[in-house]
This record gives sequence, C-alpha cells and structure tokens, in this order.
Amino acid sequence: MTDRYVVFGNPVAHSLSPDLHNYFAKNYAQDLIYDRVLIPEGCFESIAKEQFNSGLKGCNITVPCKLDAYKFADTLSPYAKACGAVNTLKLQSDGQIFGDNTDGRGLCDDFDRIGIDLFDKRILIIGAGGAARGIILPIYERHPKSITVVNRNKDRALELKKIFDYLEVKEFSELTAEYDLIINATSASLNGLLPPLPDEVLKSSLAVYDLMYKKDGQTVFTLKAQSLGVKHCFDGLGMLLGQAALSFDLWRGIKPDLQKTYLYFAKRLGRNA
Ligand code: ATR
Repeated sequence: MTDRYVVFGNPVAHSLSPDLHNYFAKNYAQDLIYDRVLIPEGCFESIAKEQFNSGLKGCNITVPCKLDAYKFADTLSPYAKACGAVNTLKLQSDGQIFGDNTDGRGLCDDFDRIGIDLFDKRILIIGAGGAARGIILPIYERHPKSITVVNRNKDRALELKKIFDYLEVKEFSELTAEYDLIINATSASLNGLLPPLPDEVLKSSLAVYDLMYKKDGQTVFTLKAQSLGVKHCFDGLGMLLGQAALSFDLWRGIKPDLQKTYLYFAKRLGRNA
C-alpha cells in the first residue's frame, strides 16, 4: 500500500518538501505520496490528529507550526528537545508519535558535503532566534574549539546560553577577527539586509554560511563576504536538502546521498552547482 506523508505549515504552497521527498522516493524506489496541508491558525492539533487517524505515516512541519508539533509529539529526540521545536513527526509501530528536529544535523551533513570540518574551529553564529537554537547542539557535537553567539538583542543570546551553557555571548562591537566559520542564522537576508557585523570580522573568516537560501545561491550576506575576499561562501540550500534527507531516513530507513541531491536541485534552480 502507498504510504502518505505531508508537510504542515502556513503558508505551505511555497514549500519545496514535496519536490524533495518525491525525488527521494523516485530515486530509492519508495512507494509513497507526499502532499502539502495548510494549517489555519490554532488548528494544528485537530488536523494532525485527523491526518494520523486516517493513515498518515509522518510529516514535516514548517513555520509557524514547529512548536505545535513539539507539543503534539508523544516522545522527542534530544535534538527536538534542545531546539524546543519539531520539524519531523513519525508514526511509530507502537502507535506513538515521535518528534525530531533534523535542521541542525542537516546543516552538519551539508558541512560534510562541502568539506567544512568543525573540529577545533572557532565558530561565530549571528542570530539568537529559532534558526540559531536549532543548529547549536549538532555543531557542539562536532567538537569545535568555541561557539560564540552574537545578536542585536543580547538578552535573546543570553537566553540561549541558559540552555547551552558552553556558548560565548558577545555584542557586535566586541567581536574581533578570530573566527574560522561565520554562520548567519538571522532572518536578515530574507529582507535583503545585513547584520551589523564589522567588515574586519567577516573578512578574516575562512568560510561563511547563510542559513537562508536564494534561488541563485547568492544572499546579500554571501555576496558581501565574497566582496571582502572570503573564498568559501555558501547559502542554505544544502541544509534544506540535508534536513529533508534526514526526515526521509527517519521514515524510510534510507539516507539519500546529499551531493547527488544537491547537484540535481542546484541544476533545477538554474545554478552552476
Ligand atoms: P528564526 O526562527 O528564523 O530564527 P526569529 O526568531 O524571528 O526567526 O529570529 C530572527 C533572528 O534574526 C533574530 O536573531 C533577529 O535579531 P533580534 O533578536 O535582535 O531581533 C535576527 N535579525 C533579523 N533581522 C536582522 C537584521 N536586519 N540585523 C540583525 N539581526 C537580524
């Protein structure tokens, strides 16, 4: 019988998840269908219940429902607990709903794909919202030398430090040119804006990664870094594919090849890959 999966969110029409999972299903000969389901405000629990009762095997969850999914799950992975948010639900054979968050591990899988080794590196994360929170634990598990968080609103960064006590928290004005990798986890690029990071800091980084992605692979942040001479600049397409591959693995026990997936979608988006 064909298994059914969906992505829940609002809006959801733009979500690439159906394209990604249909691609995985085709490549790995999995008999499944994957749809989009729009969740009106306040309706997550009732719709998710109804869907699982009518045979849904699992789902992805996008904005603004990740906290609702966290509350809905019967059991949670350590990553979901650390994030306080769930992006993947799975109906287990015992009838329980398992909640995971694959965003941060998807990012780390993309680091592997592009050859960024975090071991003993000094990492700077810009931003202290949900996107930043979601990547901290998987990055820490790669044993970097240090993880520093900088945010316009310092109190939000200090809140993160309460959860992850190993973080260093700084103001933009206190930053010095000492980072191997700078990750932009703000939503600034979505609005074509740059976080107020001093040029000397950005310039000295060996690599930069923007969690946001743009069709052509260039965000304002990666463009700025490039213009300052940073050689290795990446947007978040690989992370998006990486988190989807991990959801697929959770549901189907097959982990899609990330580089092959990246080449396929980069081409579809018209990138030079
Ligand atoms: P998300 O879940 O995507 O992380 P969020 O919780 O709204 O979304 O957080 C957005 C993050 O982007 C925050 O860290 C925000 O900084 P503040 O907490 O100081 O608001 C950051 N951000 C958004 N626009 C920014 C900008 N133009 N410059 C710097 N930081 C920005």
